[in-house]
Amino acid sequence: MEFLIHFHLMAAMAWIGGSIFMFVLGVSLRDKSKQQQVYPNIGPIFGYFEIVSLIILLVSGILMADDKGLFYGLLDGDTSPIGTVFYNKMMIVLFVIIFTMIHFVVALKTNKKERTKLQNFLSRSSSLMVLFLNLVVLHYAIMLRSMLN
Ligand code: HEM
Repeated sequence: MEFLIHFHLMAAMAWIGGSIFMFVLGVSLRDKSKQQQVYPNIGPIFGYFEIVSLIILLVSGILMADDKGLFYGLLDGDTSPIGTVFYNKMMIVLFVIIFTMIHFVVALKTNKKERTKLQNFLSRSSSLMVLFLNLVVLHYAIMLRSMLN
């Protein structure tokens, strides 16, 4: 099971690195006509790349957590430091998944189409939330690993 951390870390780099890169692109690419050339083309490739990374993260994470018996603590309401850190990480991951789904649904519905104001708001706010929450997940992930090893 020790090999799983390699997959988990590779996927975390791809997942978090991707969201930071898209943020930098969004901030630097302000020209509307350039946006219309870039986003419809890289959007789907980026979307599937990110979804594959997230699935690898979730599968490897679940296998590692099960191997270390962390789910028993979650079900028993374990309030020890490690139980609390794992619970916090899982709660933030849940919100990351919810915001990712919102972002993905809007992206699928509106690729190569004009967006309404609401769709624009949902798309931008959900991606900002994913970016911010990823940094919080990273904080709990580092704490969790240092407590486990
Ligand atoms: C957005 C989702 C996730 C991200 C970005 C993420 C990120 C990370 C990172 C970077 C580490 C290594 C920390 C370090 O080396 O200091 C880690 C460790 C770990 N993660 Fe995740 N993780 C995610 C989801 C999950 C999920 C869903 C689970 C379990 C259900 C999980 C369980 C674990 C466990 C058990 C470790 C410690 C493994 C060990 O020390 O042997 N992770 N995570």
